[in-house]
Amino acid sequence: MVRSSLIFTALATASTALAQTTAEIKCSLSSHCPESAPCCSQYGACGTGAYCLGGCDPLSSHKLSSCVPAPVCRSQNYDFTSLDRIIPNTKYLGDASKADWVSSGAPVIYNKNVLLTMAPDTVGTLLASSTYMWYGNVKATFKTSRGAGVVTAFILLSDVKDEIDYEFVGVDLKTAQTNYYFQGITNYGNSQNITLSDTFNNYHTYEINWTPDKITWLVDGQEGRTLEKKDTWNATTNQWMYPQTPARVQLSLWPGGLASNAKGTVDWAGGQIDWNGADIKSNGYYYSMFQSVSVKCYDAKTAPGTNSGTSYTYNNAAGTNDTVVDGDSPTVLKSLLGTGENMDAGDPASSKSASGSAAATPTAVAQVPGLTGSGTGSDDHAGDTQPGTSAAPAANNAASSTADAAASTPTAQSNGQFNQGGGASGSSTTASGADKLGSQEKALKGSLFAGVVVLVAMMAL
Ligand SMILES: *[C@@H]1O[C@H](CO)[C@@H](O)[C@H](O)[C@H]1NC(C)=O
Ligand SMILES: *[C@@H]1O[C@H](CO)[C@@H](O)[C@H](O)[C@H]1NC(C)=O
Ligand SMILES: *[C@@H]1O[C@H](CO)[C@@H](O)[C@H](O)[C@H]1NC(C)=O
Repeated sequence: MVRSSLIFTALATASTALAQTTAEIKCSLSSHCPESAPCCSQYGACGTGAYCLGGCDPLSSHKLSSCVPAPVCRSQNYDFTSLDRIIPNTKYLGDASKADWVSSGAPVIYNKNVLLTMAPDTVGTLLASSTYMWYGNVKATFKTSRGAGVVTAFILLSDVKDEIDYEFVGVDLKTAQTNYYFQGITNYGNSQNITLSDTFNNYHTYEINWTPDKITWLVDGQEGRTLEKKDTWNATTNQWMYPQTPARVQLSLWPGGLASNAKGTVDWAGGQIDWNGADIKSNGYYYSMFQSVSVKCYDAKTAPGTNSGTSYTYNNAAGTNDTVVDGDSPTVLKSLLGTGENMDAGDPASSKSASGSAAATPTAVAQVPGLTGSGTGSDDHAGDTQPGTSAAPAANNAASSTADAAASTPTAQSNGQFNQGGGASGSSTTASGADKLGSQEKALKGSLFAGVVVLVAMMAL
């Protein structure tokens, strides 16, 4: 596809400077992953372990079955009073009964919210749901970040890159940008704006109501945009260019305005980020505040849109709704050496007796996207946001600090205070919740596929 090659050209260029640590293997629809590193991550790089879990793209992986089956939809309300059910992607092995969210970057609990933080020299924070929605309703209540180049996002993203978005650029606090993609294909007319009151100072509830026939974006219960499937027919390819496959909920804060990014991305994001801005001075990072998320599954009785089994897989490279199987394949790896085709690889229980044989080969293969420089928890975004050479080593450090989250690195604001901007809300607090500020992990991840699409859109203008 034209779009993919554009993206991956851009990424390849952008990541050359970063990819010194390990030779990272890129993947795309036209260049699948090799058997030795079979899984193509959300960001277009090959590996095992976390590369095979959430976001693994079956259409660019070694085989459709290289990706680990995706946990089916679960209707649930999520609040953010602790990090207990937010598991770093360096630790998560696919058991959605133990984690609601898989994180990269540095989420911080504050006043019953989760702050997605973005400190200097990082690419922000991403939370992705551990379960997938196959249609349904999702609402998120949050305040966006602010400032040039700072992007807040709330999206649904499927493994084959169907996508439904809300995005917010920190220079325009009165606009929610909405968008959608079918299999990641850029279509310039798809973006539309919803106007609302100050998104930094006010909580709003952003909602996506997604059915097989219609998508509605609602803000605070009011309809802001509607898309009907019947208006998405592509007569050239004979396809509905309509999001139709199981998707994770993703919440993120990412640096569209990194100086090293493509000009189109920086312009879209409102200019370069000021790493000495007010929020950095008072807290050590930019942040967006997520208060709650609720997911209501579509609960169809027959496909599409069911969640009666354990997991979703694909049975055909078309990647359309009719190729999704709602079945009972297991979803949990034994270790980060595992893949969809060898889920028991590196089983700690058996490798002890196997006297080290398990450890020999696999260390050369990437296991968590984003830890080797060129793949921030967002390989694509590493490309488009291009975290810069200084960020790559930080990511490697993150690997080890994340391994013991409790002992992870405190950052700038060691005074332990969190100041909630000069907001009209009056809730400027140095609250007790601030005690969590120490639990930061310096990591570079978090930006989203949406950013790449924007980049490509801009490049093509
Ligand atoms: C939406 O708002 C953004 C930010 O203010 C602006 O750059 C963009 O042109 C708008 N898009 C549309 C489709 O109106
Ligand atoms: C599901 O896929 C089939 C076959 O491509 C198509 O006819 C149908 O319209 C699709 N449904 C949705 C909701 O996209
Ligand atoms: C139809 O699909 C092709 C190939 O993905 C794409 O380039 C084109 O823009 C699409 N046309 C419309 C009207 O969406």
